[in-house]
Amino acid sequence: MNNLDVCLTPDLLHLHTVDNTIVVVADVFRATSCMVTAFAYGVGSIIPVATVDECRDLQQRGYLAAAERNARTVEGFDLDNSPFSYMDERLQGADIAMTTTNGTLAITKSRAAVKVLVGSFLNLEAVARYLRTQPYDVLVLCAGWKGRVNLEDTLFAGALADRLRDEYALNEDGALMAHRLYVDGKDNLINYLANASHIRRLQRLGIQKDIAYCLQHDLYDVVPVLRGSALVRMDV
Ligand code: MLT
Repeated sequence: MNNLDVCLTPDLLHLHTVDNTIVVVADVFRATSCMVTAFAYGVGSIIPVATVDECRDLQQRGYLAAAERNARTVEGFDLDNSPFSYMDERLQGADIAMTTTNGTLAITKSRAAVKVLVGSFLNLEAVARYLRTQPYDVLVLCAGWKGRVNLEDTLFAGALADRLRDEYALNEDGALMAHRLYVDGKDNLINYLANASHIRRLQRLGIQKDIAYCLQHDLYDVVPVLRGSALVRMDV
């Protein structure tokens, strides 16, 4: 049986080996929920980059560009990091460059993996269904917040572990912790997350509706996968 492990923050990624492993990156609030929504609504590709400068370079080369830091849009960019901004038919087929505080950094750090997938509650079952067909170990990489652990990405990791517990061994404490957390909180994730630091941060900025949206399970059958430097849509 292959193993499913959880890396609670990108700052701990160096402790894991990712060759022979599929990495699922999760930044529930909001980068990976935003990417999944963007593909569900028809964007062509998303190039995730770690820095604002790289994103600006791509913008100057003609890409639409999304840049977020500390949950705010960086001045001079075309798009923000809200899933609702990508429910726009003018973006169908668009190639977008994106940088976010934690999510795109986590994706770029995972490049050595066999495959890098983008996960969120919105495409939870689609990710699980795809992984059930794969012969590799799985590492869920929680994007966290600036190197710190967060509740929402850990809950996603636990939810994926819950969906895959008949097919994958949960041998490591990171996976066991995440799974137990999800079992504890799953009946009312919004209440369970009420005091979470990024929820408080988003609420301070008046970003309310994204929270409930990003906690919905299984809205889309779309799994973004990294091909070269770009994420593209994989239907499963
Ligand atoms: C991130 O990548 O850290 C997040 O998407 C931040 C946000 O909610 O805008």
